[in-house]
Amino acid sequence: MTLEFITATGKLEEQDAECIVASAFEGKLSPDAERIDRLLNGEISAAMKRKEFEGKSGSLMVLRTLGKLKARKIIILGLGKEKDYSKQIAESAAATAFQAVKNDCESIAFKVSHSDLPAVVGTAIVCSYDFQEWKTVERKEQKLRKVSFVFQTQDEAKKAATAIGQARIVANAQNYCRELNNSNPATATPAFIAEQAQKLDGGKIRVEVWGMEQLKKKGYNAIVSVGKGSINEPKLILMEYKGGKPGDKPYAIVGKGVCFDTGGLDLKPGKYMNFMQYDKSGACAVIATIKAIKELELPVNVVAIAPMVENMPSGGSYKPGDFIKTASGKTIEITNTDAEGRVILSDALYHATTLKPKGIIDLATLTGACVVALGTHAAGLMTNNAQFAEKVKSAAHESGERVWELPMWREYEDLVKSDIADVHNADESPDAGAIEGGWFLRSFVPDEIPWVHLDIAGTANVEHPTSTFRAGATGWGVKLLTEFFKKQAGK
Ligand code: BES
Ligand code: MN
Ligand code: ZN
Repeated sequence: MTLEFITATGKLEEQDAECIVASAFEGKLSPDAERIDRLLNGEISAAMKRKEFEGKSGSLMVLRTLGKLKARKIIILGLGKEKDYSKQIAESAAATAFQAVKNDCESIAFKVSHSDLPAVVGTAIVCSYDFQEWKTVERKEQKLRKVSFVFQTQDEAKKAATAIGQARIVANAQNYCRELNNSNPATATPAFIAEQAQKLDGGKIRVEVWGMEQLKKKGYNAIVSVGKGSINEPKLILMEYKGGKPGDKPYAIVGKGVCFDTGGLDLKPGKYMNFMQYDKSGACAVIATIKAIKELELPVNVVAIAPMVENMPSGGSYKPGDFIKTASGKTIEITNTDAEGRVILSDALYHATTLKPKGIIDLATLTGACVVALGTHAAGLMTNNAQFAEKVKSAAHESGERVWELPMWREYEDLVKSDIADVHNADESPDAGAIEGGWFLRSFVPDEIPWVHLDIAGTANVEHPTSTFRAGATGWGVKLLTEFFKKQAGK
């Protein structure tokens, strides 16, 4: 299913679309909505007077035009209080509109500002993704095919076309990330994800995959240790996008790839094991970002590193009490096999440092503690370099994918110190769990290399459908990372 995006000029209400979308802030119709109100004999303002529709954020009013307009349907989207307007509100309002028409109308027309345009295009594509592989009855075919954006001038419409093209690439990559992550966990093993990544090989992308044998030979014992408990062997996915100058140092993006996290021998209790197929969200996001930046032809060099394992309990599993000599030479005392993400990332981050990168950004569904702290609306950001973090924060802001910084004061480093080895992977105390995870990772990155850790445990998937997402993976991080590289490329 591909959506067609059209740019048009003229009045919104004169567009040739089945449904026309206008908006209202609380108690205040937009100029377009006011004109439409007049054409509909004041029905909208009357509903507002009766407080049937007040323009609250998340609300909408649907009207039939009964022949008074070309369009069959009018939607007035509530945007909430004007002073509270944000990218997130624009996005969720657009999502509300798409969900309301996607199985009912073939075409829809909008008027949006240039700053909201990418978010609305992206939302249209993200809302159209419906993973139905496992539905054998009640499969629905989306009706919506055509989305028009209306501008004042030809010039503006032309400018919008480029923005639409770019937003389409990013949103398609986000859906690709979701599709990969939503795959049946019964078959989405490290080897399966690696095969999908290998399909992207070609042109400016090179993909390499290391299996058990090579990981052992290279001394990547942290990945080996976590991976050996499963009958499905671990893989290390290494992807390289060379869009920049040859010899120009790359950025490294590192993604946690736990295809399923049972906790290992420290088995997760009951409900905590649900949704642990999404413990590979970081890996899926970095793979999808490589796809996006290639299609955008960004002049940057980027490597993606995704250690893939299944964390399973078995006779071959790593155990609490084990010591591991990691690829970096540093040693880990295993105190909890459920803190496996940081263990595999220690080797992956080490691998990144061997490339002398300009900076490293890792994405990991690392801790439940981060979900407790920030919920599902922001990822936790931790860093060893405030300047580098500023760049990531600004990309986060532009992309609408929110991050919130947690402190990395030296005092917190004690949380990862082991009596016997260099570090342990889990402290006895549950205090500051997200920061503890951050410090563990930081101990594998030299201070000279700018590094940002994003704990995406709360943002990577939704348990219940939202206006934007079906239940499952959200593809969080693809927009943020792509925006970051756009900025680095000066685009
Ligand atoms: N994958 C989990 C973290 C997680 C929890 C992601 C909830 C998404 C939702 C991670 O591997 C884990 O188990 N972390 C432990 C760490 C602890 C043992 C130090 C946790 O958060 O409880
Ligand atoms: Mn775990
Ligand atoms: Zn995990």
